[in-house]
Amino acid sequence: MGQLKEEDENPMSDELLLSADEIRDAAKRLGETLAAYQSSLTERPVFPTLDRNFIRRILDEPLPENGKPWTELFDEFHNEIVPNSTQIAHPRYLAYVLASPHGLSPFADALVAALNQGCSLWELSPVANAVELKVLSWFRELFGMPQEGTGYLTSGGSMANLTALAAARDWALGGRARAEGLQGDRPPLVLYTSEEVHTSVNKAACLLGLGSNCVRSIPTDDAFRIRVDLLKSAIEQDRQAGLLPFCIVGSAGTVTTGAIDPIATLAELCKQEDLWLHIDGAYGAFAVLTERLAPAMREAGLAHSLALDPHKLLFNSLEAGCVLFRNSDSARNTFGFASSYLAKSEDPDLVNFSEYGPELSRNFKALKVWWALRAFGRAAYADTIDRLLDLSQYMAAKIEPEPVLELAAPVTLTAVCFRVHALDDAQQDRLLRRFVDSGVGHLGPARIADRTWLRACMTNLRTRKQDIDQVLETIVCLAEDFD
Ligand SMILES: Cc1ncc(COP(=O)(O)O)c(C=O)c1O
Repeated sequence: MGQLKEEDENPMSDELLLSADEIRDAAKRLGETLAAYQSSLTERPVFPTLDRNFIRRILDEPLPENGKPWTELFDEFHNEIVPNSTQIAHPRYLAYVLASPHGLSPFADALVAALNQGCSLWELSPVANAVELKVLSWFRELFGMPQEGTGYLTSGGSMANLTALAAARDWALGGRARAEGLQGDRPPLVLYTSEEVHTSVNKAACLLGLGSNCVRSIPTDDAFRIRVDLLKSAIEQDRQAGLLPFCIVGSAGTVTTGAIDPIATLAELCKQEDLWLHIDGAYGAFAVLTERLAPAMREAGLAHSLALDPHKLLFNSLEAGCVLFRNSDSARNTFGFASSYLAKSEDPDLVNFSEYGPELSRNFKALKVWWALRAFGRAAYADTIDRLLDLSQYMAAKIEPEPVLELAAPVTLTAVCFRVHALDDAQQDRLLRRFVDSGVGHLGPARIADRTWLRACMTNLRTRKQDIDQVLETIVCLAEDFD
């Protein structure tokens, strides 16, 4: 820290800033809060017993005219915010696809806030720009995507899907897209995906003006992968009806069961039919880092666009999503706008990210992703994801022989869906509520083959076999006493 300059010749007078001593004090409190949080995690209920008085106090507090000592806010965080939070980092938090963050995330996030780079124009974020470009280039390399392509870190997978599909729509509309949007005189565009796709794809189609009637949700096979035979017939039928098929969205890990669509086949079909291929790899695509899933996941690199979520299987804190484009022109055609009030100069090495996506104010979220990849290395990531894949198989193997429980689907990634045999759908929901309220662990719901299931997802760095055992024992116990 010898290079840090003492400021104090000219002490800060602004009421919204902290002095150098206060910064040190705040940093110490931050470190202590983080360490205490980590060491107390397993003693806490995963889902809190909410202190309604505290919630009420927050909701009822009038806007303060005058401040209070900021040190009290750290105490409040430790004493009241933490105990009233869902402990996402707890080893038995297994719901949805919400990862426990790697250890450098909180520090990178703090430094990002301090530098506050504007990651839209390279002039407002020169090094951050290089870091984001590097991260995107590593991601392209992982999937064998051409390095001439581009990309963009987003807030998450939903935004990545929306960004990609906006470019896909404009690619299909051609040169008149900017001027006419969907108002031109042409047949309706149609998008194809499976029934198992994440709703952010349906949401994107609606936001982009395509309308849900123009989304074909193709049924899946026994392993929840899109049925290519039905997909082909749907495209043919739509062409015969005078509609304009333009895009197929495949999944590299469906949200519910982790199924991986036959991506190479979809890519071939897109080539034959002149369609855009988008792959939603938000949940699973980073399993490309493991030997066992690399062959399937690398196929995602055949797409025109690929959505990824570094805040899932790369264990970054929220928010860090990503979209990769095979061809940078397709992104620029949609997002490149000139404006008189932005100094958009060209640079030989750096880019203006505002031309590759919808947002202008963007933070330096690449820092935590870059730091973690460099601090821990690819091998540690591969080992971690491998361990979580093994843990998922372990859970499935424990469920299969258990007479009270039933497994829903083959386990491809880290999602394990199961239910209690004897209970109906409404009871399954109630059982899930009771389990969550018990504080022992957290699972999510799933709807598969028209039935309700419980879903565990291994995206937590701290989960061990004994945690899985405890979750299943608690579920069995609750099921036995169910009324
Ligand atoms: C397959 C898939 N796609 C997209 C998303 C949406 O990602 P985000 O929550 O980062 O917006 C998810 C979230 O779980 C997902 O599993």
